[in-house]
Amino acid sequence: MCWPAPPWSSRTTGSAGAAAAAPAADRRIDAGGRCVVPSFVDSHSHLVFAGDRADEFTARMAGTRYDGGGIARTVSATRGASDDELRALLAARVAEMRAQGTGTVEIKSGYGLTVAHEARLLRLASEVTDETTFLGAHVVPGGTAPADYLDLVTGPMLEACAPYARWIDVFCEPASPHAFDGDQARAVLTAGRAAGLGLRVHGNQLGHGPGVALAVEFGAASVDHCTYLSPADVDALAGGDTVATLLPGVEFATRSPYPDARALTDAGVRIALATDCNPGTCYTSSMPFVIALAVREMGLTPLEALQAATSGSAAALRRADVGHLGVGAAARLTVLDAPSHQHLAYRPGVPIARVLDITSKPD
Ligand code: NIG
Ligand code: FE
Repeated sequence: MCWPAPPWSSRTTGSAGAAAAAPAADRRIDAGGRCVVPSFVDSHSHLVFAGDRADEFTARMAGTRYDGGGIARTVSATRGASDDELRALLAARVAEMRAQGTGTVEIKSGYGLTVAHEARLLRLASEVTDETTFLGAHVVPGGTAPADYLDLVTGPMLEACAPYARWIDVFCEPASPHAFDGDQARAVLTAGRAAGLGLRVHGNQLGHGPGVALAVEFGAASVDHCTYLSPADVDALAGGDTVATLLPGVEFATRSPYPDARALTDAGVRIALATDCNPGTCYTSSMPFVIALAVREMGLTPLEALQAATSGSAAALRRADVGHLGVGAAARLTVLDAPSHQHLAYRPGVPIARVLDITSKPD
């Protein structure tokens, strides 16, 4: 059997299937009674960055509100880092995720904000995953007129970044003085779609706003955060084709209210869970932590939370080959040092999940 080298490529050749139809195995793995689940799909992360903003987290715990202003600090540190420095930081974060059971990850740009730097971040991200997202529309860089920056993002920057990106995303948040309003987000999504990219939206994180409605109107694969939802937003999500990706690590690390995943699920909304791993609003790479929060704070059962972190987040990436163990699915398995999936929430903070390494030679 042949397994490809890149850890998170979609070009996986191994597959799950009926035992009767299995080819002769050259390796048998005894999990020793441990629970095996589909590897987690982390459908929202910002892993390519340099610098540290721990002081912002500390200030938030003392009452300072998040408004997106700190992104500029990460942009400055990231621009100042060499390709190899960023590669090393990215590799360490990827390894951290795998060690906690994540088998597929989406990675956004958004800390470059010039044509050359955004393309560079996407080129580096594409070295470790096929799920790359152009987020030039993260914030308007200081000293630039919003209209000029929008022209850049939807013109030359998009052109330079599209070859390295599968998706385009926009931080649609009128409540932030740094992010984009509904009209600006519409322009970004329209240009991205015309360039052949799939659509994603950061929406409704800091307050009520147009992000969710816009994402559903455009048929985006996912709208992420969904912290502040109106009844009309919930109806739109329930009637649309857009996954609501919930990021409870952000609510944890920004002292915000958690979205009501129970109510969304009961209303028929397809939900996903992801980390949003980034230096500002949530610096965790741990899907088990996110699952535990979803159970403790958002009303999901352990099974619903696991599904949202696997098949739900695969749907948010429009992927049918990961996030489940059905016949024909990629053989990305996560083993738990536990007898059942319930332990993911029952034993928070304990490192029980890891991706099963099927590439290494037998002992
Ligand atoms: O998803 N909200 C916008 N972007 C990130 C945070 C980025 C940062 O603060 O560095 C998020 O929360
Ligand atoms: Fe994000």
